[in-house]
Amino acid sequence: MAKKQIKSMWFCTDCGAESPKWEGRCPSCGQWNTMVEEKVATGPSRSPSPIASRGRDKARAVNDIQPLDQPRVVMPSAELNRVLGGGLVAGSLVLLGGEPGIGKSTLVLQNLLSIKSKTILYVSGEESATQLKLRADRIGRGSDNCFIVCETSLENIFAHIEELQPGILVVDSIQTIASDALESAAGSVSQVRECAARLLAYAKATGVPVLLIGHITKDGSLAGPKVLEHIVDAVLQFEGDRQYMYRILRAIKNRFGSTSELGIYEMGRRGLREVANPSEMLMSHSDEELSGVSVGVTVEGNRPFLIEIQALVSTAAYGTPQRSVTGFDSRRLNMLLAVLEKRVGFKLAQKDVFLNIAGGLKVNDPALDLAVICAILSSNVDMPVGRGFCMAGEIGLTGEIRPVTHISRRIAEAAKLGMTDIIIPRGNLKGAETPPEGITIHEVSKVEEAFRTLFA
Ligand code: TYD
Ligand code: MG
Repeated sequence: MAKKQIKSMWFCTDCGAESPKWEGRCPSCGQWNTMVEEKVATGPSRSPSPIASRGRDKARAVNDIQPLDQPRVVMPSAELNRVLGGGLVAGSLVLLGGEPGIGKSTLVLQNLLSIKSKTILYVSGEESATQLKLRADRIGRGSDNCFIVCETSLENIFAHIEELQPGILVVDSIQTIASDALESAAGSVSQVRECAARLLAYAKATGVPVLLIGHITKDGSLAGPKVLEHIVDAVLQFEGDRQYMYRILRAIKNRFGSTSELGIYEMGRRGLREVANPSEMLMSHSDEELSGVSVGVTVEGNRPFLIEIQALVSTAAYGTPQRSVTGFDSRRLNMLLAVLEKRVGFKLAQKDVFLNIAGGLKVNDPALDLAVICAILSSNVDMPVGRGFCMAGEIGLTGEIRPVTHISRRIAEAAKLGMTDIIIPRGNLKGAETPPEGITIHEVSKVEEAFRTLFA
């Protein structure tokens, strides 16, 4: 047998490309300063690529290909099922990413403990078995068919798989696993890539779904190379604000379903709870009419919901006015303020503006522009927006209100939650279904019109 040789290779942390020497710019993806040095062993023990080992396939006409009957393992949590596109597909490799402490392990454990029909192997490289047991107790579930093993060596994991023959495999987290075939440390580009490729080959060969848990770096991308995202079949991201209890699960990539689906959870003392009706938790339901509060109708993924927006406008105490935003894009706020100043004639240049989206959600639906503007104006003139009013509309640079997507669904959601009036862009309803009864629709095309509708 040829002797293993150890040598240095440089890997791009962005795309995973490898190069025999350091380069300032990745030759593959063109990013600067992303090449890192890693020790790799060259020689016979490096595993071949999972695709190459499959042999040659014959080209076939689309109509000749038999549709594969892909049975899905239905997850106990309806929200998770929705995001997965109807359950975990046999032989798929799914990556669940999120910041540390957001609840990834909780989400997975909670679901797996309720599956009785399959043997589950949960490989933990981060927590001890007793820690996991404590969590299971907290969630209030036990299971006889969910097996836990604390292991970080890929080869040992495969030995456990051989022994247990699981129906579902979970690896928590991919950054803690290392293969003996490579010299570099766990979490390095080459290790993450190698381990993911071997687990992919296992999933495809046996039809066992494999769920990988992965960390996210500070800037929000998945730690380890981007190449991980290319290898797996689906990438789910678990996100939310740690200050708040709400968590959003969304699919960034899904080969077996839509990426516009979204699941909402709430972290409680006994694990994660599904939130079937997000609007109800995002509204304060206060009886008092307060200025500076408006209700926007947003669509996240495929789901419409109502969200409360709060603004506070006050005279600047210092020379430079402050603009402070939570949950909304601050550049977008500056743009909206400039539109108000230039096109509508409100003098806000010497005012502090604070904006807050209730519930700690981060939204980037442009249809919330109108609600943001109305909250600011309401605080500025110190007049409350009438109870029962909500709105959706994008603001253009000339102060015009532009049409938004999914208008019928927004109106239906508003009506369902007992709103009596909705302000929408003029012409947006054309061709849409007839609106539900009990809600008055106000069509506007300029910010002034919306303002007159609310405060006249
Ligand atoms: P965890 O699943 O360990 O996060 P991750 O795997 O993404 O790092 O979740 C950890 C957090 O969740 C922790 O800060 C405590 C909180 N938590 C609860 O609030 N209630 C619970 O029932 C559980 C199990 C966790
Ligand atoms: Mg964890």
